Amino acid sequence: MNKKIKILVSFGTRPEGIKLAPVIKEIQKESDKFDLIICSTGQHKEMLKQVIDFFELKPDIELDVMVQNQSLGMLSSKILGSMEEVFKKACPDMVIVQGDTTTAFLTAFIAFYRKIKIGHVEAGLRTYNKYSPFPEEINRQLISKIADLHFAPTKNAYENLRKEGIDAKGLFLTGNTVVDAINWGANRIKTKSEDQKSQDIRYLENILDLNKKIILVTMHRRESFGKEIANVCEALKHISQKYKDVDIVYPVHLNPNVRNPVGKILSNIDNIKLIKPLSYEPFLWLMSKSYFLITDSGGVQEEAPTLRKPVLVIREFTERSESVDLGISKLIGTNTQSIINNASLLLDNEVDYEKMIADNNPYGDGKASKKIVSAIFDYYSLKNK
Ligand code: UD1
Ligand code: UDP
Repeated sequence: MNKKIKILVSFGTRPEGIKLAPVIKEIQKESDKFDLIICSTGQHKEMLKQVIDFFELKPDIELDVMVQNQSLGMLSSKILGSMEEVFKKACPDMVIVQGDTTTAFLTAFIAFYRKIKIGHVEAGLRTYNKYSPFPEEINRQLISKIADLHFAPTKNAYENLRKEGIDAKGLFLTGNTVVDAINWGANRIKTKSEDQKSQDIRYLENILDLNKKIILVTMHRRESFGKEIANVCEALKHISQKYKDVDIVYPVHLNPNVRNPVGKILSNIDNIKLIKPLSYEPFLWLMSKSYFLITDSGGVQEEAPTLRKPVLVIREFTERSESVDLGISKLIGTNTQSIINNASLLLDNEVDYEKMIADNNPYGDGKASKKIVSAIFDYYSLKNK
């Protein structure tokens, strides 16, 4: 094959940036085969900048679609309009999207309209519940309808897609690229001297008592806005009062639908530290120092096994069922008493705690990006034979 393959990688939010960073780095290693265009839609601003800076991503195209607290419709119309222009100018052979965000779905959708091939990283995750997670479940189902190459992170995801009629020729079991991202991040941190430690880590060392058990919390899902967030906050408040020897640390997502109620219920409690979203390096550090995690995040559920941390999942449904099946994470919903009971069990009972420490990682082996990039190359090599 003489001509290089022109690939446009698109992302817009923090988790897409993290999970596509290793794919981008792998494509960059193969610059004799690929021309790469990196496009950020800017669906997230500060939270994405942290990722772009940490992974040194250098986007070729940076859109600016974020407006505070805009509706999904407004966000969608901006992405649709601007991606059309991006594709008109860039004319890629293939676009790579990741996961289930509005950026991922609408980038893929416009690519479909322009008959550009689509590669979908983290394909096949399902709850089969239309509104949970919302709108992600439908975003990813729709991407599967129009993608040409599907990169499934787990066997379950692979089988979901086979059952939905996706041809095995375009379907690859790769593992999740988040494991590659953690490995890249951990290596980068290892090469730093004590002096180069990030300011955020120094800040965390200052505000936390590392002799205490630390519970790390994140929460941001749209289906939890309102009563569910309040329930979770009430549970955290109760836990902080019951266990004075525990520090709860909570980097609060910038969405005002999260930030406002969390600030209202949990400010000014000694052993609850509400902090800004962390860059990936201090977040990995904080995970490694935590006793266990309470989260509704998709990415955090997948990262925790690598760091061997138990997870309490504050959702009614999860598409990351692999770790639940292994007993290393637990789906506990958003009921206040259920959160208190499950956290108390882990804090009071070492045997139950130990049972939730991962022996292996169901989400990948750190080689997903390599597999993805080589599948893309093979696809074009075969096509041109
Ligand atoms: C989005 C994704 C979700 C993903 C999550 C990761 C959609 C519909 N949702 O949800 O799938 O799990 O990102 O975090 O694609 N904001 C800022 N600064 C930022 C980021 C967000 O101020 O850097 C605020 C803005 O007010 C913004 C709001 O958060 O309007 C919501 O952002 P949005 O991307 O629409 O939704 P998320 O809840 O972040
Ligand atoms: N993360 C981070 N800083 C934080 C909180 C999370 O870097 O303060 C990382 C986390 O390690 C994971 C990703 O962000 O890789 C998850 O993003 P989020 O929970 O926003 O989205 P989801 O994975 O649920 O789509």
